Amino acid sequence: MKVTIVGAGAVGASCAEYIAIKNFASEVVILDIKEGFAEGKAMDLMQCASLNKFDTQITGSTSDYSKTAGSEVAVITSGIPRKPGMTREELIGINAGIVKEVCGNLLKHSPNAIIIVVSNPMDTMAFLAHKVTGLPKNKVIGMGGALDSARFKFRLAEALGCPQSDVDGMVIGGHSDKGMVPLIEKAARNSVKVSEFLSAERMQEVVEATKVGGATLTGLLGTSAWYAPGAAVSAMVQAIAQDAQKIFPCSALLDGEYGISGISIGVPCVLGKNGIERIVEVSLSDAEKTKLTESAEGVKKTNSLLDGVLA
Ligand code: 2OP
Repeated sequence: MKVTIVGAGAVGASCAEYIAIKNFASEVVILDIKEGFAEGKAMDLMQCASLNKFDTQITGSTSDYSKTAGSEVAVITSGIPRKPGMTREELIGINAGIVKEVCGNLLKHSPNAIIIVVSNPMDTMAFLAHKVTGLPKNKVIGMGGALDSARFKFRLAEALGCPQSDVDGMVIGGHSDKGMVPLIEKAARNSVKVSEFLSAERMQEVVEATKVGGATLTGLLGTSAWYAPGAAVSAMVQAIAQDAQKIFPCSALLDGEYGISGISIGVPCVLGKNGIERIVEVSLSDAEKTKLTESAEGVKKTNSLLDGVLA
């Protein structure tokens, strides 16, 4: 499988590294507009091949999309990351134009690619990618819930005092500090609901810490996180590459599912060779439904800022 990653920044390079180490893709092309930057990242990563025992061929390109031709999957990480105190939505003014241009360039050389959008505000950027590319809706996927769910499991394991391998949990809704919906009622420690172990207050602390997981790291790092975002999108690429039929919460364009239409927002999806094989409508409590509906309203509001870009 050939994978393109647009944006050789920390998230894109981490994604490339994880894809290479998992050794499921024959080729990864990293593309950036900064002269030599993608080439340098690719060469540095390739010098890990004998150490990390992978055969993946990683190459870099400065703005030459012909090098991305024939990619089965293209990951868009390009755009500016947020600074401490910023919301993801504040990035739309710059990132929307970048994502629009990148989509057009990618499609010229890989008309059948599955596109995974990481750039923020991600749900709105994924919606933009749908509009700009006109690809079938199963082929444009936003990465947010996979990352947020990983952060949810981190906080659950921390609260439970157990290994993360013993914890299961999913976050749906918008990939935003206020719009995330950690499904705490469904979260489990080895199939036992976490409410058997944690007080309502402690569970709420887990939910709130999850929602600001990205902002917490931006405050510590001075910029957006990259390891877990890179790992999350690499897991989605792997599920596609291996036709794994695994469920990930992904930002998918909805057409009535969960009573929502006309936006991309995080919902459980089965990922396989076709990208989103199907959207899974799980039963939600009234409280969960209300939170998801409110989250959708927030995404619609951010999408309305696209008007100038989509014109
Ligand atoms: C995050 O939450 C970059 O949006 C990404 O870290």
